[in-house]
Amino acid sequence: MTNKPENEKQNRRKTTAKDKIKINVDDSKGARGIKGTPTVETTSSGSLDSPTGGTEGTSPVEMLDIKTMVDQAEKPKRKTKPTPATRQSNDNSKGTRGTKGTATAGAASSGSLGNPAEGTTGTNPEKSERIDSGNNANVVNLSSRRRQKGSGLPLPDDTNEPARPSYVVREDWSQFGPPGVWYHGHKTSGKDKDPEPVNLWLCSPLSVAAVTCTDDKRYFGRLLVFIDTFGTRRTWAMPMEMLRGSCEELRGELLAAGVHIDHRERTRLADYLQWKTPQRRVTAALRTGWTRDGKAFVLPEKVIGSEDVIYQSETMHQEGMAETVGDFAAWQKDVAAYCVGNPILALSVCVSLAGPLLAKIQQDSGGVHWVGDSSIGKSTALFVGSSVWGGETYRRTWRGTANGLEGTAAALTDTCLCLDEINEADPKEIGSIIYALGNGTGKTRANRIGSARNVARWRLTLLSTGERTLSAQMAEGGKQPKAGQLVRLLNIPTARAFGVFDVLHGFTEGRALSDHLKAATAKHYGHAGPAFIDAILKTETDYCAMLENIKAKPEFAAEDSQAKRVASRFALYALAGTLAQEFGILPWPANEAIRAAVECYRLWYEMHGGGSTEDRQILEAVADFISRNGDGRFTCKSGNNDEQKESFILNRAGWWIDLEDIGRVYLFTSDGLKEATKGHDLPRVLSALDSAGWIHSHDKEKGKRSKKTDIGNRKKISLYWILPKDIEE
Ligand SMILES: Nc1ncnc2c1ncn2[C@@H]1O[C@H](COP(=O)(O)OP(=O)(O)O)[C@@H](O)[C@H]1O
Ligand SMILES: [Mg+2]
Repeated sequence: MTNKPENEKQNRRKTTAKDKIKINVDDSKGARGIKGTPTVETTSSGSLDSPTGGTEGTSPVEMLDIKTMVDQAEKPKRKTKPTPATRQSNDNSKGTRGTKGTATAGAASSGSLGNPAEGTTGTNPEKSERIDSGNNANVVNLSSRRRQKGSGLPLPDDTNEPARPSYVVREDWSQFGPPGVWYHGHKTSGKDKDPEPVNLWLCSPLSVAAVTCTDDKRYFGRLLVFIDTFGTRRTWAMPMEMLRGSCEELRGELLAAGVHIDHRERTRLADYLQWKTPQRRVTAALRTGWTRDGKAFVLPEKVIGSEDVIYQSETMHQEGMAETVGDFAAWQKDVAAYCVGNPILALSVCVSLAGPLLAKIQQDSGGVHWVGDSSIGKSTALFVGSSVWGGETYRRTWRGTANGLEGTAAALTDTCLCLDEINEADPKEIGSIIYALGNGTGKTRANRIGSARNVARWRLTLLSTGERTLSAQMAEGGKQPKAGQLVRLLNIPTARAFGVFDVLHGFTEGRALSDHLKAATAKHYGHAGPAFIDAILKTETDYCAMLENIKAKPEFAAEDSQAKRVASRFALYALAGTLAQEFGILPWPANEAIRAAVECYRLWYEMHGGGSTEDRQILEAVADFISRNGDGRFTCKSGNNDEQKESFILNRAGWWIDLEDIGRVYLFTSDGLKEATKGHDLPRVLSALDSAGWIHSHDKEKGKRSKKTDIGNRKKISLYWILPKDIEE
C-alpha cells in the first residue's frame, strides 16, 4: 500500500495532457471546496480522515470521537496496485486504476487550508479543489470549483488538474503515481519561462485529522492518521513542537512507525503538516493518569472515560508503559486467586491498584519494599503486582533508575512503579531516588532562554524488592536513610511458611507456585488496572470516608506519628483491594485485602520497632559512638588538674564519670556529640536524647540540656551528660 515510488521520474513528472482522465464534474460537491486558498485533500475510499470530516464545519469547535478513528483504522483495506506496465502508461486507462469508488465526498480531508475560520493565511491561491472517488469503480471523480484569479468567483470546472498549490492525500494509485501525500504546485525553470506544474510525492498516506490541544490551551498538536508499511491504519497525537528546526525527530518517529518519506521533499512534509488546520478538536493529555478533574484516565494505549482525549507524546511508542495482553478471566483464575491467604502477594496487588486512588484521597507517592533472602519469590510477588498494569517491560530494575527517573515516573502517574532488585542500584543514589519519587516532582531545569521549563510531576505507588533493607543498602554507599525515606518505601520482611507464600493452593512446593505465577503473569496482564479505573469512574464513592473506616480498625492503631502515617498507608492498600474485590475485579473473599494489609503492617512494625525512626537512629548513633570511642576519646573526669594532664588525648570527644548505682555517664563536648550524630541537627539530637531519658543531668535554666562542668583547673565548660540506656526493640 505504501510503496515508495519506484520511479523517480514518475513521481516528479509534470502533469501533461496525457494525464487527463475521465472527469465527472460534480458541482454540488464542489461547493464545499470553495475557499480561495490551497487545499489539502484526501482521496479514495476508507479515507484517512473521519468520514464526517468536511472542510467547512460551521461549529468553531468540533470534537472528534477518537473511537471513530480507531474503528476506521480497522476498516478492511482495499486493493490495488497496478502492474508496472499500467503504472507507466499515461493514457486514459490510467484513470481506472485510481480508486475503486466506494468513498463518498465526505472522504475528502477535513481541515482544508481554505477554511476561513481556521485561517491559514498567506497561502495564495486562487483555487481550491476536491478530488473524490466516484461510485463508478473505473472512474476517478474529480469535483472542483475554483475561483477565478482575483475575482473570488468560481473557476469553471474544466480540468482534472488538482489545485495548485495543494496537497492531496491519496490512498490508491492515481495518474500521478503511488498512494501517498502529493504536493501539486508550480516551478519556474528559468527566467522568462512560464511556471510549470510539478507533482511531488512526499510520503506514504498520512492525514492530519484534528487539532489537539491541552485543556489549558498551552500545548498544541495534530492528530495524525497514517498507514504503515503493512497497511495498518494508525494514529499519533504529534506535539507541534516537533515541527521545530529541521524536524529530524519527527521524521525519525514517522519512519520508525512505518511511514515512507521522500528524503528530498522532507521540508515540504513539515510544511504540509503545519499548513493544514483541521476543524476538529481533540483534547491532548501530556501525562498518563487522571485528567478532566478525575472524569477520565489516560493510558498510552487508551483513554478510559472520555472519547475525545488522546495521549500526546513525542514518541509513539514508549517502552514500559501499561499494556493489556491475554485474558482477564485467566488472570483472575491463574494469578489473582493465588493471592488468597498469601498476604505478600495480595498486598502487591493492592499496592499496584492503589495508584489511581492516591489522587482521590490526596495522598503522596509511596510503596513497599519486599525484603528477604534470594530465591524465595520476592520478584514473583512483584510480577503479580505489576501484572495489574502491564507485562515484562512494565517492570523495571533499580539499575540506572536515577537516569530516567523523571520520565519513567511521569509516564506512570496514577499507576504503580515496580522496581526489582535494589541491590542493582547505586547505593549512593537510592536515597535521592526515593525522595524524588515521594516528592512527585522532577528537577527544575532552565531552558535555553533561562526560564524554568516544564517540571515533570507524578504521583504513584511503588513496589520494590531486594535482599536487604533500604538502610542496609544505603549504608553501603555511606548513607543513612532519613525517616522520610523509610516511611515512603516501607521495608517488609517476606520470610513466610514457604518463601514468600503462606499457602501453596495445591502446589507441592514454593518453587512450583512461583514458576506458575511467573508463567501466568507473562501471558495475562494489564486488565485489572484499567478495569479498576473503569469501575471507579462509574461509581460514586466517598473514598476518604471509606479510608477512615478502615483506618479506625484496632489493628491499624498506632501511638507515634510515624507508625500512624504508615498505618494509614496500609489502610489505603486495604481500601484499593477491598474496592477491587467489590467491583468483581479480584476473586477474593471479603476482607481478604484488609487481612493482607493488617498482616503486612504488623510485619513492618515488627521490623521497624516503635517510635520515631529518627529518634532511634540518633540513639543508635550515640550508643555506637560510645562503644567505638568510649575508651579512646573520653577520659575520666576527676576534677584534678594533674590527672587531667596525664590523660591528654587527641581528638577528645569528652569525659566520663562513674556514678554510684547509675553507671558511667559520658560528658560529651558539643563537637563530640555533633560528630557522633552526623547528619542530624543538634537540637533534634538533644530532643531525642531527652525524650529517651538519656540526658542524666543538665543546668536548671529553662531549656538547657547541657551542664556547666568543672574539668580540672579550667574554666567550667558546657558538657552534655549522657547516660546510654537500652534501645527498645
Ligand atoms: N517460595 C519459594 N520456594 C522455593 N523456591 C522458590 C520460591 N520462590 C521462588 N523460588 C525459586 O526461585 C526462583 C527465583 O524466584 P524469584 O521470585 O525471582 O525470587 P527472589 O526474587 O526472591 O530471588 C524461581 O524461579 C523459583 O524457581
Ligand atoms: Mg528477585
